[in-house]
Amino acid sequence: MNLKSIIYSATAALAMLGAAACSDSKGSGNAEMDAFVNDLLGKMTLEEKLGQLNLPASDDIVTGQAKKSNIGAAVAAGQVGGVFNIKGVEKIRDLQKVAVEESRLGIPLLFGMDVIHGYETVFPIPLALSCSWDTTSIERSARIAAIEASASGICWTFSPMVDICRDPRWGRASEGSGEDPFLGASIARAMVKGYQGNNYEKNDEIMACVKHFALYGAPDGGRDYNTVDMSRQRMFNEYFEPYKAGAEAGAGSFMTSFNTVDGIPATANRWLLTDVLRDQWGWDGFLVTDYTAISEMIDHGMGDLQQVSALALKAGTDMDMVANGFNGTLAKSLEEGAVDMGQIDAAVRRILEAKYKLGLFKDPYKYISADRAKTDVYTPENRKEARRIATETFVLLKNEGSLLPLQKKGRIAVIGPLANTRANMPGTWSVAAASEKYKTLVEGIKDAVGDKATVTYAKGSNLTADAELEANATMFGREMRDNRSEAAMLAEALNVARSSDVIIAALGESSEFSGECSSRTDLTLPDTQKKLLEALLSTGKPVVMLNFSGRATIMTWESEHVPAIMNVWFGGSEAADAIADVVFGDVAPSGKLTCSMPRNMGQIPVYYNHFNTGRPKAQDVKFEKFRSCYIDSPNAPLYPFGYGLSYTTFEYSDFALSANEMTADGSIKATVKVTNTGKYDADEIVQLYIRDLVGSSARPVKELKGFKRISLKAGESAVVEFDITVDLLKYYNFELEHVAEPGEFVAMVGPNSENVSSLNFTLK
Ligand code: BGC
Repeated sequence: MNLKSIIYSATAALAMLGAAACSDSKGSGNAEMDAFVNDLLGKMTLEEKLGQLNLPASDDIVTGQAKKSNIGAAVAAGQVGGVFNIKGVEKIRDLQKVAVEESRLGIPLLFGMDVIHGYETVFPIPLALSCSWDTTSIERSARIAAIEASASGICWTFSPMVDICRDPRWGRASEGSGEDPFLGASIARAMVKGYQGNNYEKNDEIMACVKHFALYGAPDGGRDYNTVDMSRQRMFNEYFEPYKAGAEAGAGSFMTSFNTVDGIPATANRWLLTDVLRDQWGWDGFLVTDYTAISEMIDHGMGDLQQVSALALKAGTDMDMVANGFNGTLAKSLEEGAVDMGQIDAAVRRILEAKYKLGLFKDPYKYISADRAKTDVYTPENRKEARRIATETFVLLKNEGSLLPLQKKGRIAVIGPLANTRANMPGTWSVAAASEKYKTLVEGIKDAVGDKATVTYAKGSNLTADAELEANATMFGREMRDNRSEAAMLAEALNVARSSDVIIAALGESSEFSGECSSRTDLTLPDTQKKLLEALLSTGKPVVMLNFSGRATIMTWESEHVPAIMNVWFGGSEAADAIADVVFGDVAPSGKLTCSMPRNMGQIPVYYNHFNTGRPKAQDVKFEKFRSCYIDSPNAPLYPFGYGLSYTTFEYSDFALSANEMTADGSIKATVKVTNTGKYDADEIVQLYIRDLVGSSARPVKELKGFKRISLKAGESAVVEFDITVDLLKYYNFELEHVAEPGEFVAMVGPNSENVSSLNFTLK
């Protein structure tokens, strides 16, 4: 404890005695915290208060120079509440020291970072993680991320990103959990728990930030930052659940999104931030904007910086990331009466409360330990977990003639632009990655086979023939362009291919083909890679296609021509070894898609939980005039939500309901027997869907309402049970009341959203 925190403790204790000091507080339920914060607020100048609302970028920090940096001067002047994306415990310590020792009140800083899917030990991208449907492992990944980040001085992560996405053109599909709100909500809870642990009791439990509130994943045309406009029914039933789950799990902070909601930018949308998030959902954390989201409201056409800053504060936003709108203009707005001190105090209070809950007033250096930075980061145990979890995320889409798993023998050619790149293994938003330490796929394959087989390599092609597009898709030090001619690269690859027994084609996207501002209008395999694949197939050698991607891509041609296809997403720091584990059958693949894989661009958005329409097409016909369909494409995606193969086969039988009637306060049990009928021990993800046949509003054809990941040895069976409670039957009706309406429902179970067995039941 330093001198200032001792003074704080003493004054807080005194303030507790004088209850009058709390009179402006609505009361958090924690009297000690209220007293402490009231006391501190009482001592703050307006400038210091606005300083707490300020989260500037931290570009100019060099170790040992924090004091002299621009940001250091602002921190010393009490003009900064937190900083983000500084990697390095020494730099963080320096800056915290300035805050605690040089600023008048010594209020510690928050240190945030985009720890999205791991720190130095990088886990698969969130979309991939969701394909494991393994909330225990996902929680574990967040726990390890928190341990490593906190060992490096970070106490706040800008994660989980829980935006539902049905449009794979959007590059940030990679950062979320796919298209389903039920699964998304389960993952949101798991991640908040993983990061925050036991409410920051220990110095490796950090604050989560649920983002981007709200609806950021539904931009028009899939173009990042674009307009979002949807009905409130759709918001509440199909998009809000994961945010709500994050709020209920006690996430310490939320981030506003860039887009408009009902025409008002989220950052200034009082209905969204205050009426829904705080009042309806009872959430009591603090709200930070996304990067410059306040100043971006000028371009949205909401006014000048002073006007938009006032709008944001009044809507319920507490902290301004980078825009310098709160710090720069709220004093003037206060003077002119556009905002009042109560609104400023409310925002400051929430930020001070967050710092209090994190324990930073007791020990500003709680998260800053040079020792832990040496022992807790990128450890063998963490890497082992990352490798295990990555194996659960790959989705086997096709496996003709059981080509996979490969045997460790003969000559194995690994060919493609993703085969030999270290920097692209972790995937987008891996801010703290140390990719020089990670293996390339070729290295992973070589290590797996040892001297049992010969592994050869050729790049075969660039990512795309279009150098400008490739530059856009390989930013942040992930340059991978080869200056040889297309013909020369192809010739080399064919040589390598012809002398092999089997070809592993490592194709698809680079890390930055997805992620922020990486929206695409064409999701097919880029031109040169397609040519390479055709050439490899023409050799007559068996080809296994590993598709690297940060989103659902279109593989209609590939699904017709390539015997084995596995989607490996971006598997993180241990991706290479994990891929080898699955390719050679040490682990059987078990991932299942959490985003429908479209057949063509025109189908987008295509998602499983759609409405029936008044003119549904019969399932088994491709086209029916005057029915809801296309004349040139089936409605169904190429690979549906929930789909994924294994090396073994599973048989579903004996689906039963414990009753076919249910009362409003009762529940029924759905059971199904699952048998591993193949030769491999493997995991299966058993899925429960429900349809509300008749409602006061139209209801989707099915909605995921349960899932279980089970392990079965070859030949083994298990009975899987789901409790169908009234809660699972509820939805938001036209009045936005959360109701379960009596009537008939269908329960469906199966291995994916298309292949299900159904039984009806009635809610009395
Ligand atoms: C992104 C956020 C991120 C923030 C801070 C923004 O551009 O939209 O997701 O947390 O930057 O790096």
